[in-house]
Amino acid sequence: MTGLPPLPAPMPSIHLLSDLLINQIAAGEVVERPASVLKEVLENAVDAGSRAIDVQLEQGGVRRIRVADDGCGIAKDELALALERHATSKIANLDDLERVGTMGFRGEALAAIAAVARTTLTSRAEGSAHAWRIEGAERSVAPAALGAGTVVDVADLYYNTPARRKFLKSEGTEYAHCDEMFRRVALARPDIGLQLAHNGRVVHRLPAADHARRVAALMGDDFLAQARPLDADAGPLRLSGFASLPAYSRASRDAQYFFVNGRFVRDKLLTHAVRQAYTDILHGNRHPAYVLFLELDPAGVDVNVHPAKIEVRFRESRAIHQFVFHALSRTLAESGAGLAMRDAPIAASTTYSAASPAAAEPDDRAAAARAQPFGAYRDAPPVQGRLAMESASRSYFDFVGTARESAPPPSAQPSATEGFRPTAFPAPAGRSAAPTAPQLPQHADDSAPLGYALAQLHGIYILAQNAKGLVLIDMHAAHERILYEKLKTVLDGRPSVQRLLIPAVFSVSAKDMAAAEECAEVLTGMGFDVAPAGPQELAVRSVPALLASAPVAELMRRLLEELREFPASEVVTARRNELLATMACHGAVRAHRSLTLPEMNALLRDMEATERADQCNHGRPTWTQLTMSELDRFFMRGQ
Ligand SMILES: Nc1ncnc2c1ncn2[C@@H]1O[C@H](COP(=O)(O)OP(=O)(O)O)[C@@H](O)[C@H]1O
Ligand SMILES: [Mg+2]
Repeated sequence: MTGLPPLPAPMPSIHLLSDLLINQIAAGEVVERPASVLKEVLENAVDAGSRAIDVQLEQGGVRRIRVADDGCGIAKDELALALERHATSKIANLDDLERVGTMGFRGEALAAIAAVARTTLTSRAEGSAHAWRIEGAERSVAPAALGAGTVVDVADLYYNTPARRKFLKSEGTEYAHCDEMFRRVALARPDIGLQLAHNGRVVHRLPAADHARRVAALMGDDFLAQARPLDADAGPLRLSGFASLPAYSRASRDAQYFFVNGRFVRDKLLTHAVRQAYTDILHGNRHPAYVLFLELDPAGVDVNVHPAKIEVRFRESRAIHQFVFHALSRTLAESGAGLAMRDAPIAASTTYSAASPAAAEPDDRAAAARAQPFGAYRDAPPVQGRLAMESASRSYFDFVGTARESAPPPSAQPSATEGFRPTAFPAPAGRSAAPTAPQLPQHADDSAPLGYALAQLHGIYILAQNAKGLVLIDMHAAHERILYEKLKTVLDGRPSVQRLLIPAVFSVSAKDMAAAEECAEVLTGMGFDVAPAGPQELAVRSVPALLASAPVAELMRRLLEELREFPASEVVTARRNELLATMACHGAVRAHRSLTLPEMNALLRDMEATERADQCNHGRPTWTQLTMSELDRFFMRGQ
């Protein structure tokens, strides 16, 4: 008998929630942490037309956030209303909502904040004889002393919601988030003088200034010196600000600020447009730094799609994308950045020396070896057919994290057990044994569609020979794809972990520190053991076995940077594959690392065994084939 589902417990009767509870629930969306309180309160001060704003934080903002402004103030009989949900002076009807020009408009921030922290509002409206104060809890209004403007004091965040309090991180972490929030407002509004103090110490003192000076104060003089100003408009659209030249690119996305009508946003469309403008001039691992302001008719952008308003929706998204892309491209092109960068990789490529005239005759090899002081063949007995420079550094085997016994160098030991048939190379008529590399297998069978490695070209490509002809493989791209797919399967279960003999200890920014703390669980789940080793230092003690040979510090910094862009909950689900891609990219063999033939063959076998190995994670191809007939045609053989 298949039992019926158990009867539900009798449903409690329906009743309305208390206002306090409603506000506490709403606070879940708006008041995620001290930084979100600071954001709301700062934005209120900005909306009030303030010329000067003073922020004092205690204990990362958890103990206290006090913001004093010199704005328009709140009249006595509106003080209580300001703390009510859905009470706002900023919009009155749908029309207003559709063309809202203030930072706030939902009328829910103060109510939510007052529901989860001890909140006091002191304000003196213009024309009022003195100030008035209201306590959030009692809602009683009493006379107070204040010259002008408003002071919002938010103390003991989550004092009455202990479950929430547990999610607060260390003081340093919460402070880092507050600092970032302050920077955003300060960048958006250079015309307002701003000051921030933490635990009594002044951290930022920013007099009202023009954009350039404010940007320099917050992003550094270096940035400004290496950035191009831009100011472009097209009809109702205007893009202004500063964008770094490629020389100032960064390893992280830290220094990227995009404002839409004065509001800091993180928007896929805009990020994409910017990224595209930099595509040709910036290497994929580098990130531009910028502070950009897009202005448009408020009716053209919906800011009411996210509780914290960090995402927006454009009515004419294509036009906006085009405009941003072109305005930025033009600025970068005018600066000559394009030329400078396009040369860079070429210059770099002349410095490595693993170049080998692939498949040269033994005599030529000797000549080549002489010609190259760090010659490709010095330690490589020609009998082995080792054309690639053997390096003392880590090998592909290390990189894949498996001690592969498979794929011995077919050149060294062709063996029937591997399905290796030394005679069956289907050479075109008239072609005898390949004149190129006598020791190499002269055919490739079905079990090895990508063939067998002949050599490494300029430390970047693997040249291999298969039944059809020549195969060219982008070593890094191919390995990246393999690692990615392996990480995906391995991390579905419990990843096997490699303890590092010597923990990797490295310095990190406060923001990275915060991300490591917040995402500790995510990182553990992926096989990393990360712990603070000092106030600004992290120690990594273990890594996923697949990444045993990856540059740990670099990899971890990149991961943290991605992690801190999104809440941990999103990271595990939606962004997991992006994280894996980052891990794969950093774990994969770097260009210019010499591989031995066995290593190259192991890579080829791995490619054959890996799904979607045809393309790297960025969608670029990983290998290509040049058939014998294509080569024959090129050399006009047999014509
Ligand atoms: N610093 C301030 N100066 C003047 N008025 C303020 C200030 N902070 C809040 N207010 C008033 O309180 C109202 C409610 O604030 P808030 O809950 O943040 O909602 P919103 O900003 O969405 O209107 C605002 O509409 C504004 O009238
Ligand atoms: Mg507000």
